[in-house]
Amino acid sequence: MYRLRYVSPPPHNFSDTPPEPFDAPASLHRSGVARKTPGNPNRTDSPGSPMSLESDALRRIAPSATIAISAKARALKAEGKNVIALSAGEPDFDTPDNIKDAAIAAIRAGKTKYTDPDGMPELKAAICAKFERENGLDYKPSQVHIAPGGKPVIYNALVATVNPGDEVVIPAPYWVSYPDMVLLAGGTPVPVATTAENGFKLVAADLEKAITPKTKWLILNSPSNPSGAAYTREELQAIADVLLRHPQVWVLTDDMYEHLVFDDFEFVTIAQVEPKLYDRTLTMNGVSKAYAMTGWRIGYAGGPEPLIKAMAKMISQTTSNPASISQWAAVEALNGTQDFIKPNAKLFQKRRDLVVSMLNQASGIHCPTPEGAFYVYPSVEGLIGKTAPSGKVIKTDEDFAVELLETEGVAVVHGAAFGLSPFFRISYATSEDVLEDACGRIQRFCGNLK
Ligand SMILES: Cc1ncc(COP(=O)(O)O)c(C=O)c1O
Repeated sequence: MYRLRYVSPPPHNFSDTPPEPFDAPASLHRSGVARKTPGNPNRTDSPGSPMSLESDALRRIAPSATIAISAKARALKAEGKNVIALSAGEPDFDTPDNIKDAAIAAIRAGKTKYTDPDGMPELKAAICAKFERENGLDYKPSQVHIAPGGKPVIYNALVATVNPGDEVVIPAPYWVSYPDMVLLAGGTPVPVATTAENGFKLVAADLEKAITPKTKWLILNSPSNPSGAAYTREELQAIADVLLRHPQVWVLTDDMYEHLVFDDFEFVTIAQVEPKLYDRTLTMNGVSKAYAMTGWRIGYAGGPEPLIKAMAKMISQTTSNPASISQWAAVEALNGTQDFIKPNAKLFQKRRDLVVSMLNQASGIHCPTPEGAFYVYPSVEGLIGKTAPSGKVIKTDEDFAVELLETEGVAVVHGAAFGLSPFFRISYATSEDVLEDACGRIQRFCGNLK
């Protein structure tokens, strides 16, 4: 079944309570309180009850599973346990010095005031130059939106355009935040399952089946978090050909991991592949991953002027501008030396090869080789139904992740959090020594299952 109705997964408490099925018809909170999903008939609270503090929109979503697992790993570490967290999605190296220096210079020069809400002209100019230089895309400054991170860029686009009943097609596995941001915006996420055989990439026929007259957006993410899959020019063209037949559908392409591609893979983005989609594409990117700037909070996008104006209106009444100092740092990131980008990608490629090889030596695990990002998305199908030495039966990928964390101290994220089971995600943005240790523990864990 490829066209699924999204039901937000319950929050993860990592206790011994058996997990509810991911696609339970009414998403019942573990505490027994019904969470509101669109049209959820099981809602138990009434206006005026303590539960009514939370808005209907908020009760449609679940907290981020990746953040929950990282928090659990930190708590175990604080108890003195030897825990390796492979759950966080950020580069393990520091922001390059030229970028830090630009920020310090901005502070000293007093560039510490408000800027235009959706970004200052100097950064918009640097972004236009980047799109031209690296993607062959011609955007004017009036076509650029800047926000405090890539996440708010996506959120601003959805809130500015999605009406109740609008559908947003999201290939699964997906980055955890897409469906919940759609729900917050009042829309309906429509996950479309991909397969490991297709490299976790959306195929044209499945996209065609998922589109209805209510489809407003397709969200693409290449290279992908969580699978590392990246689309070739031909694969994007096949998707573009479907979209050309459905003029009501806009495309949001999340190119956050553009610079992390391996084995001479050529990164391309959909507006570049099919210029006829330029007028309905939002090309989103950011400095977080490529320049190790996750904490600086700068994301950006290029798109058609009416969409960018709508997003500017939205940001003018909410966050206003991202930190002026971070914007000056991002100017240097985009305009300054790019020398470290290729060596970094090489480093990540080496880590990918290590992890893929070691995981494929773990009994019951199959790990495909992804084209980019810093994640692998192995299958645990071969382990389902097996029993751990503790007596626990591994029924789901969440059982696998919980038991692995509790017995071997390795934190990974279960595939259900990304909408496709039975898999798990490893972030290999850490040193080879740590990765070897972690993969050795996973091998031992799998070997001990009966
Ligand atoms: C696919 C993808 N898009 C967007 C983001 C958000 O990036 P930022 O930290 O700039 O908000 C992330 C972060 O993990 C991501 O993995």
